[in-house]
Amino acid sequence: METLIGEEKIRQRVSELAAQITRDYTGRNLVVVGVLKGCFVFLADLVRGIDVEHEIDFITISSYGEGVASTGAVRLLKDLDTNITGRDVLLVEDIVDTGSSLAYMKGILEIRGPASLRICALLDKRERRERDVMVDYVGFEIPNRFVVGYGLDYAERFRELPYVAALQAGDQEES
Ligand code: IMP
Ligand code: MG
Repeated sequence: METLIGEEKIRQRVSELAAQITRDYTGRNLVVVGVLKGCFVFLADLVRGIDVEHEIDFITISSYGEGVASTGAVRLLKDLDTNITGRDVLLVEDIVDTGSSLAYMKGILEIRGPASLRICALLDKRERRERDVMVDYVGFEIPNRFVVGYGLDYAERFRELPYVAALQAGDQEES
């Protein structure tokens, strides 16, 4: 395991993102929607830095099997509890890889008529993108490595690590 982004670097960047979101959403009707499970650490740190009153809700999707290779299929496991019609939704993701999950979620949220819908992701593996989805707030752009920690898992392991690490020195498995 190789540390890619240490605790202090994450802390600094998350507070910058929170400050930017605070500026952008002051006076708006903000609902922060976390994508479980991977978002839980990032979201907990992020919302504590957002100085705008907001509601928090979660959606659970599944796009990966047990390993590092995408199955391509996205499933909705748990929907929102909140009605987002007419509200300013900020979707919070751990990582955007191919963009399939994001494209799927944008689809199911947009038809509910939010006043606005923006995306915030801690990590962006831009070179892997297959779908044309725009990420409005990005923590870090990272190379094509499979990463764990700070909420991200490999077969449900390593979510509790306080930093982001590459699982192994080699390249990501082909999907
Ligand atoms: P996408 O649909 O290909 O963009 O994949 C996005 C989802 O796959 C993320 O929300 C993660 O749950 C998972 N994922 C993608 N890359 C990684 C990684 O490097 N480590 C852990 N999970 C990942
Ligand atoms: Mg995820």
